[in-house]
Amino acid sequence: HHQRNTKHEARNTKHETRNTKHETRNTKHETRNTKQETRKRKQEKRNTKHETRNTKKKKRKKKQETKKTKTKTKKRKQKRKKYNTLEVDKDKPLKGKLLIQMFEKASLRTRLSFYLAIKQLGGGTITLRANELHLGKGGESLADTAKILSTYGDGFMLRSDSDEKIAEFSKYLKIPVINGLSPSSHPTQVLSDIFTVEEIKKKSISKLNICWIGDSNNVLNSMIAASVKFSFNLNIGCPKNYEPKKFVLDWVKKNKRKINIFNDAKKAVKDADVIFSDKVISLNDKVNKNKKIKDFKNFQINSKLMSFAKKDTIFLHCLPRGEEVTGDVFLGKNSEVWL
Ligand code: NVA
Repeated sequence: HHQRNTKHEARNTKHETRNTKHETRNTKHETRNTKQETRKRKQEKRNTKHETRNTKKKKRKKKQETKKTKTKTKKRKQKRKKYNTLEVDKDKPLKGKLLIQMFEKASLRTRLSFYLAIKQLGGGTITLRANELHLGKGGESLADTAKILSTYGDGFMLRSDSDEKIAEFSKYLKIPVINGLSPSSHPTQVLSDIFTVEEIKKKSISKLNICWIGDSNNVLNSMIAASVKFSFNLNIGCPKNYEPKKFVLDWVKKNKRKINIFNDAKKAVKDADVIFSDKVISLNDKVNKNKKIKDFKNFQINSKLMSFAKKDTIFLHCLPRGEEVTGDVFLGKNSEVWL
């Protein structure tokens, strides 16, 4: 018995020793794992920092580039002052280049200004009629059409009633596509608006209060995008049911910017350096037009509303105009519409 007990004890002691060893090994493993995790977390933190720094750097670089482009463009316009309409800039930056353009919707200003701009920069344009293409008649795919456009042209400008179509073209084209107005945006209008504002106010747009009175339409969407890209204050005055869409507001938030929405036009125009407006019914609107116009009756830009704004506020409008602005304001001393 005694001997058996002693053996048992010896075995138990061995077991315990083995267990203790196991435990020690496990503890070591755990410590090693914890250390590894800490190291990993630190690395991740470092990576995030790097990324943030890189993103910031890229943003800064883009801003600088935009600034340079703006300065260059202003200089170019200055130089053109003594030129005739069809005279080409001496350096011909678009020499030998062709812009193919197509308007699926009405256009007056965009059509003329693009034609002239490309010509003045030394290039050429051709305007395709949407209803004369095989694509328009359903006889050719968009991909094949895009291939041909890319073969012959250096750029394609499209005014369309479909955002998806512009996206599809940009997927298949090998040349740049310019959005010449879509249901959701009108970027070239807003770019020239910014240019005009800076030219008149002789200040960077980032130092000005911009106000939009009117519908949350394509032009406003692009204005909102610009307020994020060019960092300017934007007040919007519109009826409650016509505020910008949630995805637009979410995008602004994601980019850490803020826009101010007022359902009272008088509050929106306060302190504004520039007041923009646009017609209530847009090209792509499929709504009850009479009802919509009625809903906007308190958002008309008239002399009474202008009396709530700064004395030197300028008024701008992309045209065509409707009842959203009275003739006396449109043609009045604050208006820069016919620049
Ligand atoms: N919001 C207007 C702009 C016209 C240039 C429209 O889409 O009809």
